[in-house]
Amino acid sequence: MADLALSISQVSKIFGGIRAVDGVSLEVSQGERRVMIGPNGAGKTTLFHCVSGAHRATSGSIRLFGEDITQLPEHERTLKGMGRTFQISSVFVDLTALENVQLAVLGIRSDKWAPWKRVGDAAGVNDRAMEKLELVGLGGKAHVGVKQMSYGERRQLELALALVNEPRLLLLDEPCAGLSPAERQRLFKLIQGLPRSLTMLMIEHDMDVALGLADRITVLHRGQVILEGGVEEVRVNPQVREVYFGQV
Ligand SMILES: Nc1ncnc2c1ncn2[C@@H]1O[C@H](COP(=O)(O)OP(=O)(O)OP(=O)(O)O)[C@@H](O)[C@H]1O
Ligand SMILES: [Mg+2]
Repeated sequence: MADLALSISQVSKIFGGIRAVDGVSLEVSQGERRVMIGPNGAGKTTLFHCVSGAHRATSGSIRLFGEDITQLPEHERTLKGMGRTFQISSVFVDLTALENVQLAVLGIRSDKWAPWKRVGDAAGVNDRAMEKLELVGLGGKAHVGVKQMSYGERRQLELALALVNEPRLLLLDEPCAGLSPAERQRLFKLIQGLPRSLTMLMIEHDMDVALGLADRITVLHRGQVILEGGVEEVRVNPQVREVYFGQV
């Protein structure tokens, strides 16, 4: 359907004998904020990798804004409007915040070099990098070395990196993990304040964050979607309470 940002159809990912993702179908509308929850090892990050192109799905298909991207490599998915942050930090720690974003603008990431990007004019690169830093509340920290930044600020920086290519779909893998309550609140507010036109699919363990941000919630368990629904519906569902909160 034309108004879908993301359509995942019967996607599985098998590692050796492990069905990490087992026949997942999921549709996210344009402009929607979807949160995915589920216990450790449920397959959330693996599904993200299949969507971003870091992993190739063993079977099934994935559409981004109506276009089949199942066979596309990761950088082409990025060019088609997908941005992502990582569960594990991926910034260059020896550089400043601004230098990290400048490199991302130029298509250079700590995990790969992307030579297809044309090197733009220096002032243009600088302006775009500063604009993204300001968007995530780091305008005043542009020239601070990453080593001097708090963990929360590094997470903000990663968000800036994910926004560099002006994505239309943003994948966030536990952006608030490991943060203090104050840092978590700050990052949560930043994410909440991003343009509503930006579709989000976010993995989040913190139920308060999930409930505060989500339009809808998908619950993954043992590689399968066990429930999808509105915030309240998911919160009170007995099966979710059992697998996710360990209580009934
Ligand atoms: N590269 C891999 N090779 C083999 N098995 C893997 C690989 N990546 C993930 N797995 C397995 O797939 C399953 C799902 O892992 P995944 O990281 O997707 O879970 P998750 O829901 O993101 O968990 P968490 O909440 O702990 O981040 C686990 O059993 C994990 O051990
Ligand atoms: Mg994970």
